[in-house]
Amino acid sequence: MKKNPIVGAIFLMAAFLLLVPSAQAQKTKKKAYEHTVVEIPAGQRTVIPVETEHTQLVLVAQANRVLQTLHYGNRIADPQAFGSLRTFRDSGNGSGPMAFPTAGGKYLGEPALHVKYTDGYHNTELYYTGHDVHRSGDVVTTEIRLKDYVTQLEVKLVYDAYQKEDVICTHTEILNAGNLPVELVQYASGSLYVEADRYLLTHFHGGWAFEMGMDSDILTHGTKVIESRRGTQVTQCNNPSFLLSLNTDRLQENEGEVIAGALAWSGNFRMSFELDESDRLNVLAGISPHASAYTLASGATFVTPDMIYTYSRRGAGQASRNLHAWARHYGVYGGGNINPTLLNSWEGAYFNFTTETLLRMIDDAAGMGLEMFVLDDGWFAKDFPRNSDNAGLGDWEVNTDKLPEGIDYVASYAHEKGLRFGIWIEPEMVNPQSNLARNHPEWVVQSPGREMYQSRNQWVLDLSNPAVQDFVFGVFDNTMQLSGNIDYIKWDCNRTVANFGSEYLDADQDRFYVEYTQGIYNVMRRIREKYPDTIVQCCSSGGGRVDYGALKYFNEIWTSDNTDALSRVYIQYATNLIYPACVMASHVSAVPNHQTGNVTPLKFRFDIACSGRLGMELQPRNLTDREKALADRCIQSYKQYRDLVFNGDVYRLASPYDGDFYALMYVSQDRKRAVVFTYCIKYQNRAVGGHVFRMDGLDPGKQYKVTELNVDRSRWWGSGKVHAGDFLMEGGFNPLLLQTFDSAVFYLEAQ
Ligand code: DGJ
Repeated sequence: MKKNPIVGAIFLMAAFLLLVPSAQAQKTKKKAYEHTVVEIPAGQRTVIPVETEHTQLVLVAQANRVLQTLHYGNRIADPQAFGSLRTFRDSGNGSGPMAFPTAGGKYLGEPALHVKYTDGYHNTELYYTGHDVHRSGDVVTTEIRLKDYVTQLEVKLVYDAYQKEDVICTHTEILNAGNLPVELVQYASGSLYVEADRYLLTHFHGGWAFEMGMDSDILTHGTKVIESRRGTQVTQCNNPSFLLSLNTDRLQENEGEVIAGALAWSGNFRMSFELDESDRLNVLAGISPHASAYTLASGATFVTPDMIYTYSRRGAGQASRNLHAWARHYGVYGGGNINPTLLNSWEGAYFNFTTETLLRMIDDAAGMGLEMFVLDDGWFAKDFPRNSDNAGLGDWEVNTDKLPEGIDYVASYAHEKGLRFGIWIEPEMVNPQSNLARNHPEWVVQSPGREMYQSRNQWVLDLSNPAVQDFVFGVFDNTMQLSGNIDYIKWDCNRTVANFGSEYLDADQDRFYVEYTQGIYNVMRRIREKYPDTIVQCCSSGGGRVDYGALKYFNEIWTSDNTDALSRVYIQYATNLIYPACVMASHVSAVPNHQTGNVTPLKFRFDIACSGRLGMELQPRNLTDREKALADRCIQSYKQYRDLVFNGDVYRLASPYDGDFYALMYVSQDRKRAVVFTYCIKYQNRAVGGHVFRMDGLDPGKQYKVTELNVDRSRWWGSGKVHAGDFLMEGGFNPLLLQTFDSAVFYLEAQ
């Protein structure tokens, strides 16, 4: 029988139609494997207040289970009132102020979390499923559980509320409870929605020897991004911290609303500030997603770093005091301890020393009343001796040609003289001119076939590799074994990553940046287990690793390689907006200054260095007797008040960004003692005479004896006398600072 072509075509079409749904069913089957729609019942609004003594973050799970941020500000008595607040700005074209916005649903802004699933879909919508609150001492932790209603992705938002310090730290735990891996494209630590008429963002930028420059910009619509993609030395450009002033055009010290934030992460970071069409601002902060899509295996949890927030109604001053108090109690390793004054060998000797040079420096340091000697770069490597920065990194054995008696000899000599002893290492790095580079080329960060760019003649070691982590731990450990008298390690890190890549990670290069940073933290955890009492300084060509992630393990930072006292005014002012003075290493160096060529009086240099952790970094032999006598006086008096610098509350009296003077003071918590630093940084017209500073933080009703310290010639008529706190705070304090680099320091004691 002849085949009917029409019947044939109908048959073919039917077969096709049958096939199409079965292909669809196939796909649906694959999706059903990973995607299960879970009914999250709508319910009542649940108000979740996260509170400190004076502040409150109010999160509300709305009836539709979407979690929103409705308040971050002063604490109100009944936060349940926020349960009835309507967010009129929710619309068909977007969503309300979501507590943790995700890519998906109606949310169209920059997401805190963006997940790509195995089937290629990108949507996540998180719904509230419950929360817990628990308390440990002064910290109240709230854990809020969220879940996507289709996939098995679960998110926990964790808020630690530090009661007395008025600080809230938040991080996020992302659990892939499904049975296929997912890709985390963006995974911020947290999101904060803020509503105001005007937002002034103050953030910090810079480079080598000019860290923590300050920018203040009024935010306009769109997104402002502060990011670092440098891998190492991440804060040698931007710092992962900010001050957000609300409803003002100026950063104000004592007035107005300020939210301060800082991310505890020493790797690539990203903070974004998105001002949307409703004039609402969303702040996101976390690990930078740059080249870091993170594959989360089935059953695995990713824990983001902490984002630290504080809220102040009394300007930047109170915001800093809150952050500093939190840092001293919880955020800085050994916070609350007084770290010793020291002489560091770098600017005084560079690579050019013998045992004799070091012993003489130790003698001089002891003679001036300093408490520690730190041997900087140049003491190690034999085959490729470290006599300049072009060789030796990686070969951590003592260069006995240079120091035939070894390190223990020098360290013991320091101890005999009553000094502690510290030593420099740079364990994350390697010079091509080293045995390490020859023996372990696979440990060097590199990308196959690409140029291995050198910077300061060195390469970066691949800390994502556990074998390299062991090596780096070993560098610290072995160095500590060189002498039983090592009290302090200066940990340096002098370059950024270029052409990133890890042989160890193989096809998983997206993990490099995150695992490098986690690698450092693994090493530091091991170090702290074995060496809980060693003081460790975090240096990265100066302030290249200044963040609260590093400070969990390090006692202090080398604030900047720029030791010029005038540059330090700006660097220390801005650093101290976020980080406490106890971590700011500040050294008196020679003039003309080696970085800037600037010449400042020794007194000015001391008065600046004394407002942080005081040290010296010069060849003491080059000081005149008169200069030595002043140094003695400054060091002696520093010991009398340094507990205030380390643990007091800071009050800034004049910002160097606002005029010709800089002034600040540290006040004891009981307001009985204080130290005041005042500086003239620019010639300002002699007719002005004594500039009036208003002291702050004192008890107005108390009488204070005011003593001038570090005196070359007396600069205030009122020194040596007793004055009322209110007089000092209302206009009676006018030290005579007539010329550029005039400075004066005063010690106050309540009678
Ligand atoms: C950079 C540091 O910041 C300096 O203080 C000094 O330690 C040098 N490295 C040594 O190479």
